[in-house]
Amino acid sequence: MKGKFIVFEGIDGSGKTTQINQLSEWLIGTDLIPENNQLVITREPGGTKLGKHIRSLLLNTSIEKSPDPITELLLYAADRSQHVNEIIIPTINKGDWVISDRFCGSTLAYQGYGRKLDINLIKNLETIATQGIYPDVTFLLDIPVEESIKRRINRKDDRIEKEGKEFLSNVALGFKTLSKDRKWKKISAINSKEKILSEIQSEIKQLIKNK
Ligand SMILES: Nc1ncnc2c1ncn2[C@@H]1O[C@H](COP(=O)(O)OP(=O)(O)OP(=O)(O)O)[C@@H](O)[C@H]1O
Ligand SMILES: [Mg+2]
Repeated sequence: MKGKFIVFEGIDGSGKTTQINQLSEWLIGTDLIPENNQLVITREPGGTKLGKHIRSLLLNTSIEKSPDPITELLLYAADRSQHVNEIIIPTINKGDWVISDRFCGSTLAYQGYGRKLDINLIKNLETIATQGIYPDVTFLLDIPVEESIKRRINRKDDRIEKEGKEFLSNVALGFKTLSKDRKWKKISAINSKEKILSEIQSEIKQLIKNK
């Protein structure tokens, strides 16, 4: 049986890493994952060795000249294609579970709603890069942009985070629209870490029940 593929989406500082850490700790202590299978935590961009190089090209602030928006889009697609082929497909085919910090939704939100690139072009690249695989469940951690900025106050911004508030507001709106269109589980991420985790846990239990 195939393993589950779980994705976390949300603007910078929405709590993805925090929740992935909490969820994986909980999952490992349950019997939801079959005994001989594992949990693999990964992320985009940068879930593979090649992807780590792509990630630094994309997010490094010391880069002399920023990639133009289409180049940026293609670099994300290249990272995803490698990630899907090298990590996601082989892992779920073994029955292992995958949790990915960001996936296709982030490209639609940042490059589509943020950079205003053609959504159909992005969707075509998504089909090519993913070979048609999609997550069993996607959680959108939804927080106001102001809260996201507050939470990252002591953190050095990467190249995309430096885009500022208006860009991030467009991205946040994109995420909300996508969560409706794609039937993601939207969670209010201004709640306590514990409350957010418990909503995630019930959704995962539901996912297993409906398998
Ligand atoms: N529910 C919460 N309530 C208050 N603070 C939180 C909550 N969840 C996370 N935080 C804090 O907010 C900050 C950002 O969280 P985190 O790094 O998990 O976000 P992220 O979505 O992974 O961000 P990035 O996109 O930059 O990787 C951290 O300092 C974290 O401790
Ligand atoms: Mg993170």
